[in-house]
Amino acid sequence: MTVYTFLVNKITVGVLGASGYAGREICDLVTRHPCMELVFASANSRAGETIRAAGRSISLIATDEAKLDSAGLIFSALPHGASASWVQAAAAAGAKVVDLSADLRPGSGSTSCNGTTVPYGLTELTRPLLPGADVVANPGCYPTAILIALAPLLARSLTVKGATINVSAASGVTGAGFTPKPELMFAEVAEDFRAYAVGNEHRHLNEMRAVVSEMGGDNDILFTPHLLPVARGILATITVPVKESLAQPLSLWRELYRDEPFIEVSDTMPSLREVVHRNVVRMSVTTAANVRQPTLIIVAAIDNLMKGAAGQAVQNANVMFGLPEIAGLPA
Ligand SMILES: NC(=O)c1ccc[n+]([C@@H]2O[C@H](COP(=O)([O-])OP(=O)(O)OC[C@H]3O[C@@H](n4cnc5c(N)ncnc54)[C@H](OP(=O)(O)O)[C@@H]3O)[C@@H](O)[C@H]2O)c1
Repeated sequence: MTVYTFLVNKITVGVLGASGYAGREICDLVTRHPCMELVFASANSRAGETIRAAGRSISLIATDEAKLDSAGLIFSALPHGASASWVQAAAAAGAKVVDLSADLRPGSGSTSCNGTTVPYGLTELTRPLLPGADVVANPGCYPTAILIALAPLLARSLTVKGATINVSAASGVTGAGFTPKPELMFAEVAEDFRAYAVGNEHRHLNEMRAVVSEMGGDNDILFTPHLLPVARGILATITVPVKESLAQPLSLWRELYRDEPFIEVSDTMPSLREVVHRNVVRMSVTTAANVRQPTLIIVAAIDNLMKGAAGQAVQNANVMFGLPEIAGLPA
C-alpha cells in the first residue's frame, strides 16, 4: 500500500553512524520517506566518504561536526557504549531521537536520558508509550523477533512458571556490523554454519530477560545464536513449555496481531526469503509431538536490518511524530 502524506515542511533528519549497515539502511528509508528530509549523515573513520542511498549520493560528515540542532529527528546508529552520550546531546539540542544501540534498552542498566525514562520501541507492544516521547530505545534484532513471537503467550500467562524458554536462532552476517573481522570474511562464512556465544551469554539476553519479566513471564531464556552464510535475515526457533495444550495455537497470535500491518502470522513455517528487505515479523506456531509437557514451537523470521533495526526505527519515529505508522516503510 502507498501512503500519500504531505507535510508543508518535511521533518529534518540526521543520521549518526550512517556509514554502518544500520545507518545506511536508515539513510535509504529516510531519503524515500514522504515526510522526511535527510539533512546530515555522519561517520567516524569513514567521514569524508560518500554513500549511495535511494539512488542519491550522500556525503558523510564527522559526527563531531554534525549540527544536531538542524534536525527535528536524529537516528543514532552508533555502537553501544558510544551512542548514549550522542543521544543525550541530540535530545538536549531539541531533536527527537531514536537510538538503535543497546545503551538505553531494558536490561542495559539505565533507561534514562536527560532525567526522563526512555520507552522501549518494540512498536507493536509498546505503541502507547511512543507519541510525545523525546527519545526511544529501538530494540535489538534478535529480541525483536523473539519477543514479538513470545508476547501472545506471555499476555495470557501461558508459559510454565520457572520453565526455560529455549531459543535457537541464526542471523546473517550484517548482524555483526561493518567492522572487518577475520571470522566474518567470505571464505570463512560461505558454505558453513556455526553457533557462536554458546553458553547463554549473548549480549541480547539482558534485554530479553528484562522484557519477558516486564510482560509477566517468570522464565529463563536459553539462547544459542548461529551465524548464517547470508547477508541479512534472522530465523529464530523458540520452544516454550506451556501450562495447557492449545487446540488452535495460531489463533492466539492471530488475535493479538490481527490489525498489525507489519506482523504476519502464517499457517506455514516462515523462511528468510519471505521477509528480507521488508519491515515485518513473519511467524508460525505448532504443537510439539512426542513430549510429556505441553510445548509450543514458534518460528519467527525478520530482516535484521529492517524490522530488526532501521525499519522499526522509522516505524517508531512515525508514531512519535503522529505520522501514519506505515509511511515510508516496505511492508
Ligand atoms: N547490524 C544489525 O543487524 C543491527 C540490528 C539492530 C541494532 N543494531 C545496532 O545499531 C548500531 C549500529 O550497528 P551496525 O551493525 O550498523 O554497526 P556498524 O556497521 O559497525 O556501524 C557503526 C557506525 O558507527 C560508527 N562508529 C564506530 N565507532 C564509533 C565511535 N567510537 N564513535 C562514533 N562513531 C562510531 C561507524 O563509523 P565508521 O564506519 O565511519 O568508522 C559506523 O558509522 C549498533 O548499536 C548495533 O547494536 C544493529
